Amino acid sequence: MARRLMIAGNWKMNNTYAEAVVLCQHISNNFCKEWDDCVDTVVCPPAIDLKGVWGVFEFDNMPISVGAQNVHWEPSGAFTGEISTGMLKEIGCQYCIIGHSERRTLFGETNEQVNLKLKALLEAGIAPIVCVGESLEVRDAGTTDEFVCAQVRAAFAGVDAGKAKQCVVAYEPIWAIGTGRTATPEQAQEVCAAIRATLTDMYGAEAAEAMRVLYGGSMNPGNVEALVAQDDIDGGLIGGAALKAESFIDLVKAAYAQARK
Ligand code: 13P
Repeated sequence: MARRLMIAGNWKMNNTYAEAVVLCQHISNNFCKEWDDCVDTVVCPPAIDLKGVWGVFEFDNMPISVGAQNVHWEPSGAFTGEISTGMLKEIGCQYCIIGHSERRTLFGETNEQVNLKLKALLEAGIAPIVCVGESLEVRDAGTTDEFVCAQVRAAFAGVDAGKAKQCVVAYEPIWAIGTGRTATPEQAQEVCAAIRATLTDMYGAEAAEAMRVLYGGSMNPGNVEALVAQDDIDGGLIGGAALKAESFIDLVKAAYAQARK
């Protein structure tokens, strides 16, 4: 498979600055640089921890990237509480999560806003990690693929193939997030394949084959292998298991082993 696997940790609203630096130092101390031969490793801490986390990896010369969990689409202005792409870029952010289901459901983030954020990030040279995923009601109604693929189309509206190739899509079924109830590898593969088919329809096979589609939702060292072994699953976006250095390291190690097969 030509695509590099990606293991990205989404810390959500966890870890003070001091805790973040300690956790990253622990990750750095146990990271093996050869994993970077076939796996992209990303840590997405709260915004206030970004610079400190980036500094630890930079000082240790570790091939681990830093990503934000949210961004505003305007370059600057009267948007109290918000953070711009330029601010993220200056402190070393290479990725930014957008459209996470927690932001959509708890903070009202819409498909239109996800699209604006995606375009602003690409403009700034930051790779978006675009989250999509269905609720249990949608799954039970049997309309998962339609729902998720409509989210993909909305997120990428007006974006050309060259730019789209820089993006990562993360399929995160809402019912699997933080619940310990992982989608089976077959369930996750089916939706990730539908996402890639949508990207193929929008951008052609060459671009769609180059784009990473991650799975997220109770991924852990015990289930990562079976998930990343699927044809259309190119890694994971991990919450809980990314909060401990040991399990995060085990996830990267497992992805590396899979990529080497
Ligand atoms: P968990 O791994 O804790 O289920 O969280 C997944 C997630 O939402 C990552 O963005």
